[in-house]
Amino acid sequence: MSKKECSICHCADSATNPVYSKKGILICKNCFSNEEVERIFLRNDNIYEEEDNILNFNNVSPKDLKTALDEYVIGQDKAKKLLSVAVYNHYKRISQEEAVEDDVEIFKSNILLLGPTGSGKTLMAQTFARFLDVPIAISDATSLTQAGYVGEDVENIITRLYQAADYDIKRTQRGIIFIDEIDKIARVSENRSITRDVSGEGVQQALLKIIEGSVVNISPQGGRKHPHQEFVQIDTQNILFICGGAFDGLNDIIKNRLGKNVLGFNSEKKTINNDENYFHLVDSSDLMNYGMIPELIGRLHIIATLDEINQEAMLNILLKPKNSLIKQYQKIFALDNVELEFEEAALRLIAQKAIDRKTGARALRAIMEGLMIDLMFDIKDYSGYKIVITKDFVLNKKQPMLVKRRKKKII
Ligand SMILES: Nc1ncnc2c1ncn2[C@@H]1O[C@H](COP(=O)(O)OP(=O)(O)O)[C@@H](O)[C@H]1O
Ligand SMILES: [Mg+2]
Repeated sequence: MSKKECSICHCADSATNPVYSKKGILICKNCFSNEEVERIFLRNDNIYEEEDNILNFNNVSPKDLKTALDEYVIGQDKAKKLLSVAVYNHYKRISQEEAVEDDVEIFKSNILLLGPTGSGKTLMAQTFARFLDVPIAISDATSLTQAGYVGEDVENIITRLYQAADYDIKRTQRGIIFIDEIDKIARVSENRSITRDVSGEGVQQALLKIIEGSVVNISPQGGRKHPHQEFVQIDTQNILFICGGAFDGLNDIIKNRLGKNVLGFNSEKKTINNDENYFHLVDSSDLMNYGMIPELIGRLHIIATLDEINQEAMLNILLKPKNSLIKQYQKIFALDNVELEFEEAALRLIAQKAIDRKTGARALRAIMEGLMIDLMFDIKDYSGYKIVITKDFVLNKKQPMLVKRRKKKII
């Protein structure tokens, strides 16, 4: 796996278009000559100087990290802030450890990202993995099982990080691990029906060991360990862990507790609104009630909650991210010399349709795909035209508005 890839255009490092590391952000020569990029990312610094040291985070601030996240992740400001600070501190912590030897040890702050499905949890981790010059591995807790059962050993998430670190033990030991769908390994309790053949508790215990910090034997290639294989030893003490989960049903647990508290300690009756999201008031007792073991919760020091995607955010997600769906479709169409335009009313309707599906912003892709498929199938017939997607088209998929253009090529 090559570790050097431009965080903007994703091209690999090459002799003709070298990828530089600057302020913790990887950028290729071509992209750097783009004025806007230069302004946002690099502020007129000369990048043609020697490459930054991989762990040299001195020129990046938490604010810079958040700004970089902003390019891809819409809204969720609180979570982005917490995450940026935690990742920044992680860097500070591991770089300090080498430089000064004193008794003040900075503790690491693992994070739990809590938010409805399709609100950007995985996207945040993916975005960081894109531009941070620190190895990041994203794993899915659903696939994990206790050692000895069919499925993936917990150690495999370390193997994945080792691979992301280009098989460099030192870099691995300072990397970041994102464990997605952590709620899926909740202990099965009577009041929730999750069918897992192997209890999640054993997996939680196994994860705990790694998160607490231990020396783990991994097989470099992943997969099951067998006796004649060589091991690599990885100390997980300085690895930063970020866990994410939708915690379906947690809202009811929180509401329950809030309702009880009000009756028990406070004469003023607080009304609990059934439709409201109370994730921001979560505490560790709620997570325990949900089926997470206390020791694991105790190791996830920061809880960052994400908001549900509302219509305005949905609209922004369609339009604003650097690689937004609308931009992607416009690019695909432009390759066949077709200009694609969306009326605002059409976009609003698409956003509403996505909200109705209740899977967060994840719904957008399927909706857009369904909408554009016929147009893409007949793309050659539209060459030289501008297609305007109207609200009517979103409603009944009749012909879109066509405008003949005179210009020959648009890209
Ligand atoms: N806040 C957001 N900003 C931009 N895009 C988003 C956001 N939330 C979700 N999306 C879109 O929805 C998709 C699914 O989001 P994801 O991060 O995987 O959700 P989850 O919170 O369930 O992990 C993403 O790939 C992205 O396209
Ligand atoms: Mg996810």
